[in-house]
Amino acid sequence: QATSIPANRVPDMGKRKLMNLLLLGVVSLPSAGMLIPYATFFAPPGTGSAGGGTVAKDALGNDVIADEWLKTHGPGDRTLTQGLKGDPTYLVVEDDKTLATYGINAVCTHLGCVVPWNTAENKFICPCHGSQYNNQGRVVRGPAPLSLALAHADIDDGKVVFIPWVETDFRTGEDPWWA
Ligand code: FES
Repeated sequence: QATSIPANRVPDMGKRKLMNLLLLGVVSLPSAGMLIPYATFFAPPGTGSAGGGTVAKDALGNDVIADEWLKTHGPGDRTLTQGLKGDPTYLVVEDDKTLATYGINAVCTHLGCVVPWNTAENKFICPCHGSQYNNQGRVVRGPAPLSLALAHADIDDGKVVFIPWVETDFRTGEDPWWA
């Protein structure tokens, strides 16, 4: 039950904002070295939006075209794109070679590191303090208190569009903590 989680375990917007600044390379910290690849990855920040959603951007800042994406990303693939509010968000390719209808927000629910996908382990494993999430982003090992946030990944006019996920978290059956 999401409401039973102490508020101080939930990353507050201040932290999120700081993380976004770190990701965009606006500010730097001595410990931010590992984030540099992401800083370049996501520069410049995208502004595309479509009807309440946000068009996913690839590593070059281009809109993600679903058909093109699926030509170069096979079953099981999880690759970062830029999602809602600029958050790094994984696009997921299902086993049947279609795009999953959800994207996974890569911001660790512990202290906000970007969590890489580990193909060999079939998990997301945070390099900062070792939290682990299954292949749908459900937390399976702390210290992260919560699963990775979800976004809807729709296809609109051939482009992948992220839309805020406000419904039940299908992985836990609980209300979304991020909405
Ligand atoms: Fe991911 Fe601490 S920030 S485990």
